[in-house]
Amino acid sequence: MAMTFRVEISARGHGRTSDWEASKIAAWRRELFAEDQNVIDAFIWQDKDGMGFDIQTYSGEELVGFAHVFARVGQLDDSAFLMGCLGSVMTAKTHQGKGVGTTTVRTAGDVILKNLGADLGVLVCKSALVPFYERLDWRQMSTPVVIEQPEGQIEWPHESMVLLGKNPQSVPKKLDLCGLPF
Ligand SMILES: CC(C)(COP(=O)(O)OP(=O)(O)OC[C@H]1O[C@@H](n2cnc3c(N)ncnc32)[C@H](O)[C@@H]1OP(=O)(O)O)[C@@H](O)C(=O)NCCC(=O)NCCS
Repeated sequence: MAMTFRVEISARGHGRTSDWEASKIAAWRRELFAEDQNVIDAFIWQDKDGMGFDIQTYSGEELVGFAHVFARVGQLDDSAFLMGCLGSVMTAKTHQGKGVGTTTVRTAGDVILKNLGADLGVLVCKSALVPFYERLDWRQMSTPVVIEQPEGQIEWPHESMVLLGKNPQSVPKKLDLCGLPF
């Protein structure tokens, strides 16, 4: 039988995240992204302090999954559009492979398209995770994604995926994230 999880969504900095949970999330970040540290350290990332929404997934009373979303105006095939930016997707190591990440990312998609009313969801990831997100209706970008770095605009050299809302209907040709990656 599939396990059911409870998901809480709260504005970062105004929410229900206890100090204990915040330190748990910080520890996950160190542990779960350790193998990607070289890639992470190669870029300057968006500082998400006090910004956007925390998505927290619980098994009973235990926090087992996390993600963050925020809204930003991007440039899509040369017109402005509202992006729902998804990042920090994590499941506690001992709870992986049970559907927690699926629940967290599905909820994040709903927040992006329904609550934020964004035109498009956007995330960046490593290639190994493309099949995971594809199963959750995200589509891989095959054309350039532009990010900002201190030296100027550059092309994001790893994977990027989009969650299509009603408008646009097709994967964009060119996407400018109009800021730092997240
Ligand atoms: C990606 C992640 C959030 C998935 O969480 P989860 O709760 O295990 O997700 P689910 O149980 O819903 O789905 C698991 C499936 O995701 C896929 N998957 C997860 N991590 C993967 C990886 N590193 N490489 C390839 N596939 C992966 C697998 O298909 C897996 O299925 P399996 O358990 O049968 O092998 C979790 O693995 C994680 O925290 N990873 C480290 C942090 C990270 O890379 N986050 C993504 C940033 S873009």
